[in-house]
Amino acid sequence: MKYDVKDLKLAKAGKNRIEWAEKFMPVLRSIKQRFSKDKPLKGVKMACCLHVTTETANLMITLKAGGAEPYLCASNPLSTQDDVAASLVADYHIPVFAIRAESNKVYYDHINACLDIHPSITMDDGADLVSTLHTKRREQASEIMGGSEETTTGVIRLKAMEQKGVLLFPVLAINDSSTKHFFDNRYGTGQSTIDGIMRATNYLLAGSNFVVAGYGWCGRGVARRASGLGANIIVTEVDPLKAIEAAMDGYRVMPMKQAAKIGDIFVTLTGDINVIAADHFRLMKDGAIVCNSGHFDVEIDIKSLEKMTAKKRDIRPNVVEYAFRDGKRILLLAEGRLINLASAEGHPAAVMDMSFANQALGAEWVLGNASKLERKVYALPQKIDMEIARLKLQSMGVTIDKLTPEQRKYLASWEMGT
Ligand code: ADE
Repeated sequence: MKYDVKDLKLAKAGKNRIEWAEKFMPVLRSIKQRFSKDKPLKGVKMACCLHVTTETANLMITLKAGGAEPYLCASNPLSTQDDVAASLVADYHIPVFAIRAESNKVYYDHINACLDIHPSITMDDGADLVSTLHTKRREQASEIMGGSEETTTGVIRLKAMEQKGVLLFPVLAINDSSTKHFFDNRYGTGQSTIDGIMRATNYLLAGSNFVVAGYGWCGRGVARRASGLGANIIVTEVDPLKAIEAAMDGYRVMPMKQAAKIGDIFVTLTGDINVIAADHFRLMKDGAIVCNSGHFDVEIDIKSLEKMTAKKRDIRPNVVEYAFRDGKRILLLAEGRLINLASAEGHPAAVMDMSFANQALGAEWVLGNASKLERKVYALPQKIDMEIARLKLQSMGVTIDKLTPEQRKYLASWEMGT
């Protein structure tokens, strides 16, 4: 079996952590049980480009239980958990190509290693795999039945490809499921981003001016959690609706140029480039902390920061100090990469349970519907989304009311008024 991981001797620690995560993934566990019996993915080669974490390991194990042959590479060079990669290879015989802090070249070598198997299904987080297929290995596109995409940024890229008529096979937007973005993006990013900042800095959030750039589901989650810890939240936005929502949620809303002057800590979650740029660094206070929790490391203009810097030094893991000529210092966390995965462990397993239930059932759905699908971006049928919600609620021991026949009739009628 081909693979490329840091050190197989790390496998034991990885296995313990994979099993720990599994305890918090009851929905995925129930899918694994059914997959083990029914083998709905029998013989299907899958190239999977995801963050290599304990939660992803459980997804890979589930796909294999369903009869698939999953090959895994990283969707970010800094998010790989080397012990997990080792255990997947040594204990579960799943090929992994991922090493934490791999260079850009090795990152793409690993993506190509997964494509060398000639997959018929792709699974992506950020669309680097699909984009490699469309730019460098187009001849393979006809072999692909369909793919799935995990994240907001990837779905935006794919929808742009569909609109321009260049998408070569159907892709399922996992992020569009309610059981994904309402929970993973909000509660997952909310908690794991704060976790990443804390582990890197041990900073006291209470009483700080905490600037959240972008008030999508991820930004909303981070603002709420930081507020819960006593931070004063400032939101920056370009979308008037989201800005009203942030204001009505009780936060100050202002342009980044204004926020730059008063912020103690800045987190970008917009999906766009250069949200914090040279003009903002110039206005920041001495000691301002800057980090990113958006998918790609493009939201903070690090090139400009480097140019403005006289002296740069490592302070502690994942914290680099940039000192300007006038002595002012800016602290950049995790090289501007996803703070929650680079400096912490990503979202907790209990929330990834729903995201990866969507991925597992999504692979089954793509396979079952491949002949009907066009070169478009699809969402999973609402019935599957609701079934995941029902199973999650059941696992949490929460019961809810049912509509009475009278209520059902009322909702279906248009004649009945007051
Ligand atoms: N994305 C965010 N958190 C994650 C996790 N724990 N595993 C895989 N992908 C993630």
